[in-house]
Amino acid sequence: MDMLIIRGGIPLAGNVRLAGAKNASLPIMAASIAVSGLSQLRRVPHLADVSTLTQVLESLGAVVTRDLSTGELAISPPHATTGIADYDLVRRMRASVCVLGPLLARWGKAVVSLPGGCNIGHRPIDLHLKGLVALGARIRIERGYVHAEATRLHGAEIYLGGPFGSTVTGTANIMTAASLARGMTRISAAACEPEIVDLGNYLNAAGARITGHGTPVIEIEGVDELHGVEHEVIPDRIEAGTMMIAAAATCGDVFIEDAQPRHLSAVIDILRQIGVSIEPSSTNDGRMGLHISGAAHLNPADCTALPYPGVPTDLQAQLTALLCLVPGISVITDKVFPDRFMHVPELLRMGAQIRREGASAIIAGPAHLSGTNVMASDLRASAALVIAALAAEGESVIRRVYHLDRGYEKHDEKLRQLGAQIQRTTDHPEALPDSLRMTGESSMEQHKVQEIPGRFTQPIQNPLAKPHFLSDGYAIARPMVSQSDDSSGPVADL
Ligand code: EPU
Repeated sequence: MDMLIIRGGIPLAGNVRLAGAKNASLPIMAASIAVSGLSQLRRVPHLADVSTLTQVLESLGAVVTRDLSTGELAISPPHATTGIADYDLVRRMRASVCVLGPLLARWGKAVVSLPGGCNIGHRPIDLHLKGLVALGARIRIERGYVHAEATRLHGAEIYLGGPFGSTVTGTANIMTAASLARGMTRISAAACEPEIVDLGNYLNAAGARITGHGTPVIEIEGVDELHGVEHEVIPDRIEAGTMMIAAAATCGDVFIEDAQPRHLSAVIDILRQIGVSIEPSSTNDGRMGLHISGAAHLNPADCTALPYPGVPTDLQAQLTALLCLVPGISVITDKVFPDRFMHVPELLRMGAQIRREGASAIIAGPAHLSGTNVMASDLRASAALVIAALAAEGESVIRRVYHLDRGYEKHDEKLRQLGAQIQRTTDHPEALPDSLRMTGESSMEQHKVQEIPGRFTQPIQNPLAKPHFLSDGYAIARPMVSQSDDSSGPVADL
């Protein structure tokens, strides 16, 4: 297992190019199982999740060839299939459930393991199943598997709204299945995410008749067959947002090539409110993107993660890390995954002052973050810890970075190109930097590095020293000290 060692305090500077979107690539790859010809995809990111879905498709009889250097991936659909997506693969990645609709529509049968628990909260698939039943599928759950059957699906009126909004992969499943159904399907309360638009464009290029993708009402006129197709995946807006926040947190100056302002309007808006400068720009050779320059003095914010076009839940953890550095009280609420706050206890270990309140985190800043040992719990939490470590004083070690590798292509390499001091090494006690070995002497003095301008002018606040009072009289509770599971030190658990 790898870990990252990051020396913080260095402003990021330079150009970075985005990979193709993970959350567009996965449903498109899954949909290829419903296509009768070859799917030739470009800009597919080199990620662990893409490798996992490749294995799922191969287990279903597809032949997948991939050129890691160019991001090209070709999928020949199976000639025959068991239709079984096994637990051992699905449990590694929930998005494997995206094969359910395509398998059913093309092959009349799907046996797909129900994804299990997840670190970011309760993630049922009831809306996927409701949509498929409306299309005429017979579904039963047996021994942890969804068994779905249908001779030929038929068009239907389907409402996909749930208690937390629509469902992204549910919309992908139903849209793909309905493409091969007999007659018209109308999905209302459909997810509007750009990744759904990309999937719709891929399916239309393969002969589907879909309109309205990108709006809450999608209409699909079923066709008898989908044919081979070439498609380039959209740039990853979550990688773009993560890089924008990293630039802001380090007071950096970064150009993000291919970042699409229209996919990022809520993110641009909240970052501008915080005081970050963001301008559309282009490189000398004409590549468009966004230019981010951080400011030394930032403003607190009240921010809510919502379905698209709102601030994405996939950037909530990274924004939380940024808001720790901002003077004043900030509030961040997640209305998509109300329990997605696994990053908070780790940020507390770095000196953040955060209190959980239901689906919100109340953040008192500016915290003087100091490097320490932290543990990644999921993909976006890992990205938040990287951002906090880049902005912290001294060295941090981030363990379980396989979470990061699931969804960010060469993240540490790209940050290194922007000037970050970040090193990947095998997780081993010998590899720990001296500053994080507790010898009884203060190790902070050993690592004075360039300081992010204006950021650490406040005296260091020790969250253990006294409670901090918010303007409405609430106190940021004192952290209790308990033991973390890797015995690497005390963990503050609010
Ligand atoms: N929900 C239901 N019933 C369902 C499906 C979802 O109640 O049948 C609830 C969920 O529990 C959640 C909300 O609806 O509260 C939204 O879930 P959604 O189904 O939209 O999430 P997803 O499709 O499983 C995708 C992304 C996630 C991203 C969410 C929200 C992919 C492969 N995954 O998940 O990405 O957080 O949409 O935007 O597209 C990530 O990349 O780190 C990641 C987790």
